[in-house]
Amino acid sequence: CGIVGYVSSSTPEAAGHSALDVVLGGLKRLEYRGYDSAGVALVTDEGQVASAKKAGKLSALTDELEARPLPAAMTGIGHTRWATHGGPTDLNAHPHLADGGQLAVIHNGIIENFASLKAELQADGVEFLSETDTEVAGHQLAKNYAATKDLTEAMRLTAGELEGAFTLLAVHADQPGTVVAARRNSPLVIGLGEGENFLGSDVAAFIDHTRKAVEIGQDEIVTITPDSVDIIDAEGSPVEGTSFNVDWDTAAAEKGGFASFMDKEIHDQPQAVADTLLGRMDADGKLTLDEIHVDETILKSIDKMIVIACGTAAYAGQVAKYTIEHWCRIPVEVELAHEFRYRDPVVNEKTLVVAVSQSGETMDTIMAVRHARQQGAKVVAICNTYGSTIPRESDAALYTHAGPEVAVASTKAFLSQIVACYLLGLYLAQLRGNKFTDEVRVILDELQQIPEKIEKVLQLKEQVEQLARSVQNTQSVLFLGRHVGYPVALEGALKLKELAYIHAEGFAAGELKHGPIALIEDGQLVFIIVPSREGRDSLHAKVISNIQEVRARGANTIVIAEEGDEAVKEYASEVFYVPQTPTLLAPLLTTIPLQFFAMELATMKGLDVDQPRNLAKSVTVE
Ligand code: G6P
Repeated sequence: CGIVGYVSSSTPEAAGHSALDVVLGGLKRLEYRGYDSAGVALVTDEGQVASAKKAGKLSALTDELEARPLPAAMTGIGHTRWATHGGPTDLNAHPHLADGGQLAVIHNGIIENFASLKAELQADGVEFLSETDTEVAGHQLAKNYAATKDLTEAMRLTAGELEGAFTLLAVHADQPGTVVAARRNSPLVIGLGEGENFLGSDVAAFIDHTRKAVEIGQDEIVTITPDSVDIIDAEGSPVEGTSFNVDWDTAAAEKGGFASFMDKEIHDQPQAVADTLLGRMDADGKLTLDEIHVDETILKSIDKMIVIACGTAAYAGQVAKYTIEHWCRIPVEVELAHEFRYRDPVVNEKTLVVAVSQSGETMDTIMAVRHARQQGAKVVAICNTYGSTIPRESDAALYTHAGPEVAVASTKAFLSQIVACYLLGLYLAQLRGNKFTDEVRVILDELQQIPEKIEKVLQLKEQVEQLARSVQNTQSVLFLGRHVGYPVALEGALKLKELAYIHAEGFAAGELKHGPIALIEDGQLVFIIVPSREGRDSLHAKVISNIQEVRARGANTIVIAEEGDEAVKEYASEVFYVPQTPTLLAPLLTTIPLQFFAMELATMKGLDVDQPRNLAKSVTVE
């Protein structure tokens, strides 16, 4: 989601703009962060809160504001939403009001303990209008405000009571000229002006007005007025924020200073994975999906699964096969949606079809979902877009919380899809009553460590860049992997085709000797994804043999292996080391150097990495 806050001591006449103008301008620049719905709340000098919100793109809100204008004000907050809790409707749009309409809040993130807080508030007689976790935060804040009569202190108390990830902004009728905010695991920066101050999810929110910005730390509360910016920590002690100057141009600001959306989205991956993991387990340790429109006993009784998807999403599905079969002992097939639809697949009431789609609008996948349901199968959607066609037409949904992906080539959505597949596998394992509880905990624990490990892998960027420079003119690249490394190899090859327009192929390393090895000649570039040594020694040894085989025939071998794997060095022209993690989770790390490689090679060739030729982000025709 995108968030803007603004306060000014001027008047609309003297400034030549109102708070609404500034907030809408900021939202326009933040629209890439979400476009499900948008809303604003203003506080007039007379202490009146006025708000408007609308499902759909920002233009729907501006149309609404033209039809029903809000009073002029110099204090305002605004939000552009990417739904995570509750569908993209007018009611679920932000801001949410509390305290009899005197308090307005906007929120980015996921509040994990919203259900228990909501139950307490309802017991106190609070009525809820929306399905969002945000409204819970609003009423909780109102409760604390009633007790303290101090918006900053109320925000501090509320932040202490909330679990999960959030940026929360609030205004109150009692305090025109003040916006209060809190942040935990979600972005928020301050923009400093003269007689005016700003808050934003990122600097793009206020780059048209000021280049002076201040970072806000984890679990800190900030109060802005036209002439002051006060930051306190969770205990209420004052904190000095870190100032910085924004030297990006406006276009770069929207990309967080990265050269492309793809580069930004690759760097978003720790957050995307962390957000996708948030709030999946209830207090009793039971995993759950986001939406279930069928009886869980039906999901429990399935005897076969088929994952359907296209492109990168289908490779996430292939990873799912390895993990779900292992955890659930259910046979899992993976099939391209367009192939599934037009053969005569064996599907019945005992089949669970998993449709994986970032957009939720890929026509091939939609048609496959419809076909599967006609045959009596139940369908679970794994999707990044709330309220899109695929989850709407499915029996259950598990949402990835990667946020909008702008670059055509999928990166953060892919990693989030893999995480969602793991969660689905663990959910089913638990549901089927196996003795998996311990393994569920171990894997969830390991998953929690993945965002930090991804941060480490991101540091390989420069090494990958150097490699890309040294092989700029390469005409063909091969990728080899076994087990979950196989879909990673396929994804590495797809990325290179999509972005750098280079011929690339991914193979299961064991298949090498059955044909592809004939392609190897002097200098042929070959990436090999090496599995972890732990527990699967034979697999590791087999891949080492495969490296030797291609190396002996002159290949330029680029190896991706876990830290501490010294054995690979001898046969590798170059090694990219990633942190150790259980084999089944390794794709979340080993994919990243391949994303960088494709991006760097495309960049060196002067190509548009965000919008490769002939491709579309979402293919809505069959
Ligand atoms: C298009 C995109 C790919 C994407 C595929 C599936 O081909 O270019 O990047 O993987 O569609 O999209 P979906 O939205 O269904 O995940």
